[in-house]
Amino acid sequence: MTIKNNAVSLILDAGDEKELEEIKLQFLGKSGTLTLAMKEMAKLPAEKRPEIGQLANEVKQIIEEAITNVGAGFHTQKIEKIQKIDVTEPGIKPSLGHLHLVTQAIEEITNIFENIGFTRVRYPEIEYDWYAFGALNFPDNHPARDDWETFFIDQEPDPKKGPILLTPHTSSGQIREMEKQVEEQKKTGNPISIKMLNIAKTYRRQSDVSHVPMFHQFETLVIGENISITHLKGVLDYFVKSYFGPDRKSRIRPYHFQFTEPSFETDVSCGVCNGKGCKLCKEGWLELGGAGMVHPNVLRNCGLDPSIYTGFASGWGVERVLTMKEGIEIDDIRLLYSNKLEFLEQF
Ligand code: FA5
Repeated sequence: MTIKNNAVSLILDAGDEKELEEIKLQFLGKSGTLTLAMKEMAKLPAEKRPEIGQLANEVKQIIEEAITNVGAGFHTQKIEKIQKIDVTEPGIKPSLGHLHLVTQAIEEITNIFENIGFTRVRYPEIEYDWYAFGALNFPDNHPARDDWETFFIDQEPDPKKGPILLTPHTSSGQIREMEKQVEEQKKTGNPISIKMLNIAKTYRRQSDVSHVPMFHQFETLVIGENISITHLKGVLDYFVKSYFGPDRKSRIRPYHFQFTEPSFETDVSCGVCNGKGCKLCKEGWLELGGAGMVHPNVLRNCGLDPSIYTGFASGWGVERVLTMKEGIEIDDIRLLYSNKLEFLEQF
């Protein structure tokens, strides 16, 4: 009988238990070939039915036995495989990673500033226009607010604090810190004294070898009585020597920011040419970021009297300072966020 021969040869060729189960369904299942053939027997003349019926039952039995025997073979193979596992063999060690380069830099920067009394804070990355621009003395039509520079969130603006956005710089934390300290002062009556280090994610519509759309900035803010540019320069120099090494120099040069007056760009001497000038730095200096003396309008916006209080602030990019460190020099900042293990494992 062809059904029997077909079934037996398929069963013998079955590669595993799953295949065997499929063959069983193909012949003995509800719509299996043998099941349907047995149903057809009802149409045979009555005298032929017992003989054919017996034959069909024999075929069914042969198929079932073949399936049971081949199935038992698979089971034995499985047990043999398990028995071959040597449980005394040493296991495979999962590979251990390390902190991401940016996280390592954030920890190092935090330690450097905490050593001279700064307090690390973190303020919202999703901010109101007021904190990111308005209170920082930006005019309404300043280009930094444009859609092509800042990511705006599609939500109803707050009647007082304006639209909601992804903060493009950690300077928004200056306003939050001063507001917090002024509230505190109302309760305690103590004079204001701020030494803030705000490290957070910041966002801009930028992407090229030296820009990523999401990056980290670290912002210092020092407020008190008689705070001057000398303090700014001292902290800058201390940071440069602690982070880059004792041989590196720092400098400030005039610049413009809306929220500081006077404003500066801060530079560190190039570690590759030691300030002589090379391909990387061009004139011996690498740009760290902005700094300046807090603008009197900003102090007023936070409820501080500029005739009593002065202060300085600085805002530098974590990824940028990281790529300027000796031994790390990376020529495309985007690599930091490429998730390429072969890149990250080098550090
Ligand atoms: C500012 O963001 C000012 N808020 C800095 C400041 C703070 C000035 C306090 C005065 C007082 P600027 O746009 O230059 O300034 O950015 C500062 C630093 O952030 C840059 O020097 C760079 O290191 C880093 N940075 C800016 N944009 C990107 C980007 N797209 N990708 C990576 N790093 C960036």
